[in-house]
Amino acid sequence: MELEQLDLAETAASRKHEADAPAAKKVFVKTYGCQMNVYDSQRMADALAVDGYAATESIEDADLVLLNTCHIREKAAEKVYSELGRVRALKAERAARGLETVIGVAGCVAQAEGREIIRRQPAVDLVIGPQTYHRLPEVLRKARAGEKVVETEYAVEDKFEHLPMPQRSAIRGRGVTAFLTVQEGCDKFCTFCVVPYTRGSEVSRPVERIVGEAERLAAAGVREVTLLGQNVNAWHGEGPDGREWGLGRLLYRLAEIPGIARLRYTTSHPRDMDDELIEAHRDLAALMPYLHLPVQSGSDRILKAMNRRHTAADYLKLIERIRAARSDIAMSGDFIVGFPGETDADFEATMAIVRATNYASAFSFKYSPRPGTPGAEMDGHVEEQVKDERLQRLQALITEQQHAFAEGLVGRTISTLVEKPGRRPGQIVGRSPWLQPVIVDEKAGEIGDIVDVRITGTGTNSLFAESV
Ligand code: 5AD
Ligand code: SF4
Repeated sequence: MELEQLDLAETAASRKHEADAPAAKKVFVKTYGCQMNVYDSQRMADALAVDGYAATESIEDADLVLLNTCHIREKAAEKVYSELGRVRALKAERAARGLETVIGVAGCVAQAEGREIIRRQPAVDLVIGPQTYHRLPEVLRKARAGEKVVETEYAVEDKFEHLPMPQRSAIRGRGVTAFLTVQEGCDKFCTFCVVPYTRGSEVSRPVERIVGEAERLAAAGVREVTLLGQNVNAWHGEGPDGREWGLGRLLYRLAEIPGIARLRYTTSHPRDMDDELIEAHRDLAALMPYLHLPVQSGSDRILKAMNRRHTAADYLKLIERIRAARSDIAMSGDFIVGFPGETDADFEATMAIVRATNYASAFSFKYSPRPGTPGAEMDGHVEEQVKDERLQRLQALITEQQHAFAEGLVGRTISTLVEKPGRRPGQIVGRSPWLQPVIVDEKAGEIGDIVDVRITGTGTNSLFAESV
């Protein structure tokens, strides 16, 4: 759809909205898991807005409660059921006051468990997988008519085609940074990971849809766009020049859009970092010098068992090339400790790759066996206590590196995107090129400005600065 057509759709939607205004229903969406779920929650809210649903921050007022769930680790999945218990009580309370409440479960738990969710928690009215959100209004109508609906068929192309783009007012309400999904699903089949089963195989969004959405975001005042994909650097598509584009080429194109001052992308796989993408880091000032590039383990044996299809040395060589292209790039990563068969020596190799890389930030997790994945069937599951000890040591090292990185910025002048008012009067919060919140006096600039500030100190997860 062209942008103009979208504008017409938007006008029609807001008119419908106005007509419905007095009886407007309210939807409360709670999001778990990754940034793609954040993006999807917004798209669901956008789809429901067309049907006259207004978003609410207060669950007690909601006619529709949607939990957008994550299945990546057992803990994440189990959280959903405890939350559903609370929502069920709320539904009963509201029913006593004559109010209807529809409970919906979306996201990766919905995809993985389907009808089982309703069996475990009969108060749930609808279950909708991540590839079928464009059918949400229809599913909701059925649920309100009393049917228990489970909708988990794969149709990601349809989703990309039919989900409404955000309305300008909605974008403005969400601030000056935005996510933009360019790719979904994964064909890599790492043996620990549930994503290829919950999100399906890799699908890339067409260039013109991505550019159209980015232009729309820019027109509504967004300054920083983060491209999302489970395997974002595997994105590819036919460019307007008739050539096959990769993510690098796409970034060059997006950097041309007036208003977009900052670009990021996440999450990447080492095997898909091609030359053009690395060159984009060298050439594009808008491409932020921060790269989330998970390696998961530093042991070649474990990398092989994980089906990562590269070695620790390959990863380090790649980082050298990236740093040669952009010397100030800060690295981020993900790690799993206690994968089946991981020995002390394997774990030490992970510590070694962390030391060798020197991360500005990184995330680490205890291995959690996921139903249906090859890892869950492997021998040599590691004892919980050993996992705990390894995680603690790894996290201590990562925290040390993270602090050293932040401390290294003290006294330096850095560019900051002003995002929102601070907690204290007179303060504003910005974002550094390396994703740290920057707390600075409000004289520094207006929301949406990109300003230079001098770093004066560090907090637990943030930087303090003064305007220059
Ligand atoms: N157990 C623990 N961590 C996992 N991750 C993915 N699957 C699992 C699992 N089964 C981690 C990986 C991935 C991040 C999003 O979550 O490190 O990069
Ligand atoms: Fe969780 Fe993965 Fe689904 Fe994101 S895609 S919500 S990380 S399971």
